[in-house]
Amino acid sequence: MSDSALYAQALPAGPIDPDAPLTLLGGMTPAAFMRDVWHRKPLLIRQAVPGIVPPVSREALLELADRDDVESRLVSYFRNRWKLEHGPFSEDNLPSRKTGKWSLLVQGVNLHNQAAADLMSQFRFAPDARLDDVMISYATDGGGVGPHFDSYDVFLLQVSGRRRWRISSQTKLDLIPDMPLKILADFTAEEEWVLEPGDMLYLPPQYAHDGVAEGECMTASIGFRAPTYRELAGHFLAWLSETVETNEGLDGRYADAGEKATSTPAKLPAGLARAVTERLQALRWNAALVSEFLGSHLSEPKASVQFNEVEEITLKQYLKLAKAHGVVLAPGTIALYDRTSFFLNGEAYEPPPTLAMWLQRLADNRQLTAKEVNACASLPDLMDTFHDWTMEGWLQLAPPSV
Ligand code: SIN
Ligand code: CO
Repeated sequence: MSDSALYAQALPAGPIDPDAPLTLLGGMTPAAFMRDVWHRKPLLIRQAVPGIVPPVSREALLELADRDDVESRLVSYFRNRWKLEHGPFSEDNLPSRKTGKWSLLVQGVNLHNQAAADLMSQFRFAPDARLDDVMISYATDGGGVGPHFDSYDVFLLQVSGRRRWRISSQTKLDLIPDMPLKILADFTAEEEWVLEPGDMLYLPPQYAHDGVAEGECMTASIGFRAPTYRELAGHFLAWLSETVETNEGLDGRYADAGEKATSTPAKLPAGLARAVTERLQALRWNAALVSEFLGSHLSEPKASVQFNEVEEITLKQYLKLAKAHGVVLAPGTIALYDRTSFFLNGEAYEPPPTLAMWLQRLADNRQLTAKEVNACASLPDLMDTFHDWTMEGWLQLAPPSV
């Protein structure tokens, strides 16, 4: 994102007032949108972003698609066949611009591009635990990914050019078998619109849709995440077995003094299952513990996220700079909190209440101003911790020019 990771490129926008009408939501307040639309029904918003300036140029998007720390896909429909390829792609690997019916989709643009990060922050009326990333697609005429549905909520913002969207509330969501990508076997559009730059379509999960480029175009998908309960359960059980407070019951090892000599050596000893069942049944959890797991798990950055290395500076130098500029969370950093804990990039902290207030402010605002840093700088260990986070590339100094 920046050559010098010590300083942020820009100041983040603060949290969004739930009760102030937003052009982005067609004049609705975030409160009304979340109550009436979110996760329930589609919404077309004409000129959600009037006079939109594409967060990335086509050239910049192509450069991102050529990086191996950026996830990109190429979807094409040539000779009646869908094809999916995974990046990185050099420009020479891509079909010609004049060839129709292909799209290049680049995930996580918000991690590498300030304007995309700013765009994503406009959607923080939904919790950060749900917000995922900004994907930007570039398509040539007729390009699209075919009729499909997604498992997540998505805002499809037309960034440049035009795209025809057709959508359907159909509940029959069978896919064509043996395809490289998810394409609906039957798609019957119920509504359709051509989106112009600045127009946006919100779709809840499982809503069938098909977007086809009319001429060259770029579309930004502001995507959300909702892990399946099954996925979460797997991670939770692994986490639980490692968690100090709950694993006393798991101390020790199976012991079988008194086990009888056997003439059926292949048979599992009954005592083994009994002993393990007893220990497993002793494992307990409650909402507070689950919340601790969720905070650690959901604040874990994706494997592809890399934090920029920062040239080491001393704590003393750091303190001076942080007090002068303030601090900002790095674009890839995920900060979450609950009643008792603060989570940063998968690490859990249990700060005392005096400190918790500042960390919560840092997480919600994604920054602490110079004034705020000065106000909390004397709290025990805080500046040491900020220094460590900064050296990790998780926290940055606010840009000097601001
Ligand atoms: C696209 O940008 O082409 C695809 C977005 C989607 O349909 O989810
Ligand atoms: Co989709």
